[in-house]
Amino acid sequence: MKASKVQNELLAWYDGHARELPWRAKPGVHADPYAVWLSEIMLQQTTVATVGPYFEKFLTTWPTVKDLADAQLDEVLAAWAGLGYYSRARNLHKCAQVVAFERDGEFPATQAELIRLPGVGPYTSAAIAAIAFGEAAAVVDGNVERVLTRLFNSPIPLAKNKDQLRAWAAELTPYKRPGDYAQAMMDLGATICRPKNPQCLLCPLTDHCAAQKAGTARDLPTKLEKAPKPVRRGYAYLIEAPDGQLLIDKRPPKGLLGGMDGLPTSPWSDELSDPLPGSEDLGLEVKHTFTHFHLYLHLCKGSANLAPEFPEARFVSDLSTLALPTLFLKALKAANRAP
Ligand code: ADE
Repeated sequence: MKASKVQNELLAWYDGHARELPWRAKPGVHADPYAVWLSEIMLQQTTVATVGPYFEKFLTTWPTVKDLADAQLDEVLAAWAGLGYYSRARNLHKCAQVVAFERDGEFPATQAELIRLPGVGPYTSAAIAAIAFGEAAAVVDGNVERVLTRLFNSPIPLAKNKDQLRAWAAELTPYKRPGDYAQAMMDLGATICRPKNPQCLLCPLTDHCAAQKAGTARDLPTKLEKAPKPVRRGYAYLIEAPDGQLLIDKRPPKGLLGGMDGLPTSPWSDELSDPLPGSEDLGLEVKHTFTHFHLYLHLCKGSANLAPEFPEARFVSDLSTLALPTLFLKALKAANRAP
């Protein structure tokens, strides 16, 4: 495979087919590192379609990295609500403070320096370096891994092929327009070289694709058999004051959903023990899947006397003023208390 041919054909395709995304610079305009960083952190956990409105809201509320650094962490977490993985939002805020206060608002311009910022790993540092600063850094996300696996017709399961994929990505990354090339690979993976039903007839790289030649594209990449996710269970308590206000707890700062508001819950564990005395199991159950386990929350109704069991909790009258994680929105909906 000739790297320069792949690069040129991919870039020519991108010039005609690039998706219009709110964080992308218009042709000829330099991408703002703050916007690139913000969008790439958001895009790590969710799709382009979900991120759009969050990105716009963040940029309107905090137009520069200094504005974001000056925001309260709680405001940032609230604006992030629904995107998941709240430790990312904490790191986002921490990173904004490092850039604003230690670097006078200037992002570092190389991957080697970017990767030292809080919450910025190999993928994000490469993406910012390439897209905002034109460094020929190899950008490897899930889409790119799939494209490369097919291009080289590699039968090795993704999880065991990371070093090889990174090496292929580095070989193919051009010095000319590395940011456009990276985004072209991602767009190709998202729109043409899709996980199911790859659109090989429309693909600009079809002449170079070993999997297309071998007829294996739709079977790649192969996956390792995954161990099933463990199940955890717990209770969520609907505790109402006589005036109808609902008890809302603040989760401990560290750990899953750290620092977020939610219904008071028991600890989550393999086995369900008894609910708190003075509460009644409603027979309603909510399932939510996190990265490493499935959670079943059993809903209980409790009397207001139980409030002291949750020292960080307070009664709230209007739940719509809160930024509630999806898990608790599901629970409130099941209990007909959706905000
Ligand atoms: N996914 C993550 N970052 C992206 C980008 N800059 N363009 C397209 N898809 C992406």
